[in-house]
Amino acid sequence: MTYPVNMNIKPDVQAFFDEATNTISYIVKDSTSNSCAIVDSVMDIGYAAGRITYDHADELIHQIVSQDLNLEWIIETHVHADHLSAAPYIQEKLGGKIGIGSKIMIVQDTFGKVFNEGTEFQRDGSQFDQLFEDGDTYMIGNMQVFTMYTPGHTPACMVHVAGDAAFVGDTLFMPDGGSARADFPGGDAATLYDSIQKVLSLPDETRLFMCHDYGPNGRDIAWETTVGDEKAHNIHVGGGKSKEEFVEFRMERDAQLAMPKLIIPSLQVNMRAGEVPTDVDGNPMLKVPVNKL
Ligand SMILES: [Fe+2]
Repeated sequence: MTYPVNMNIKPDVQAFFDEATNTISYIVKDSTSNSCAIVDSVMDIGYAAGRITYDHADELIHQIVSQDLNLEWIIETHVHADHLSAAPYIQEKLGGKIGIGSKIMIVQDTFGKVFNEGTEFQRDGSQFDQLFEDGDTYMIGNMQVFTMYTPGHTPACMVHVAGDAAFVGDTLFMPDGGSARADFPGGDAATLYDSIQKVLSLPDETRLFMCHDYGPNGRDIAWETTVGDEKAHNIHVGGGKSKEEFVEFRMERDAQLAMPKLIIPSLQVNMRAGEVPTDVDGNPMLKVPVNKL
C-alpha cells in the first residue's frame, strides 16, 4: 500500500488531556479553513455510581464553538477499552460524521458474544457513519486525511494521518512508554509489531499524537513526538529491536497486566459508537458479564 503522504500540509492540533483515564482527545483543524475533526473524545463515567457526565466533551464543544469551527468528523482510532466515547453526544450538538475502521465488525462479533447481546445489536458497523479501509481518504475542509490499518492492539485499530500529523491511537506510546498491550481478544503482538513498523515508515519529521500517556517515571504528561524520535528511542521497538524480541517482551508483560478499570462499560458503549445500551424498557443500562473477560 502506498499512502498519499503530504508533509507540506500542517494542521493545527489542539490536545485535551483527560485525567480520569489518561486519554488525550484532539481537535484537528485544517489550516486553510474553519473545518475540523475530533479524534478520540471521552465521556466521563463514575462507574461505582453508574453516573455519566460530559465535562470533557463539553470542553471540546466549547472550544469548537468559541473558535467558530465547523466539525466534520468525529474519529475513533479504535474501540477503546479504558474510556467511553462521547461521539454521539458531540454529534448531537455539532454534527459531523462518526468514523472507525471497518474491522469494528470483528470487535462487535467478539464482544457481542461476551455481553450476550441479542439480535437487535447489529454486528455490521452500522452504528457508525463511516467505516474505513486501509488507505481510505477523507477531507477535513481542504485537507486530505488518509487511514493506515494498524491492527495488533485490537483488530479495528487505525492510524489517521493528516498532512504531517499522525494520530496513532494505541499503536504506540511516547518513546519512554513503549507500546500498548496486545492481549485483548483479537490482539496479537507480532501483528502489532508490523503495524508499528508501518507507522515508523512515515517520514521522520511526522508529528505523532498519542491517545494515552501515563507519565512514566514521574515525568509530566506528554502526547506529541515524531517518527524519528520513536525510531531512535522507543523502549519497546526503537533502536532496531527485532520482532522476536518485541513479541517475547510484549507477551510476558501482557500476562501480568490487570484488566483496565473501565473495560466493561467501555466496550459496551464503544462498540455501539458511543451509545449507552438500553434494557427492554429503553432505560440506559450496562451489564457485567461474570468470568467472561
Ligand atoms: Fe486502546
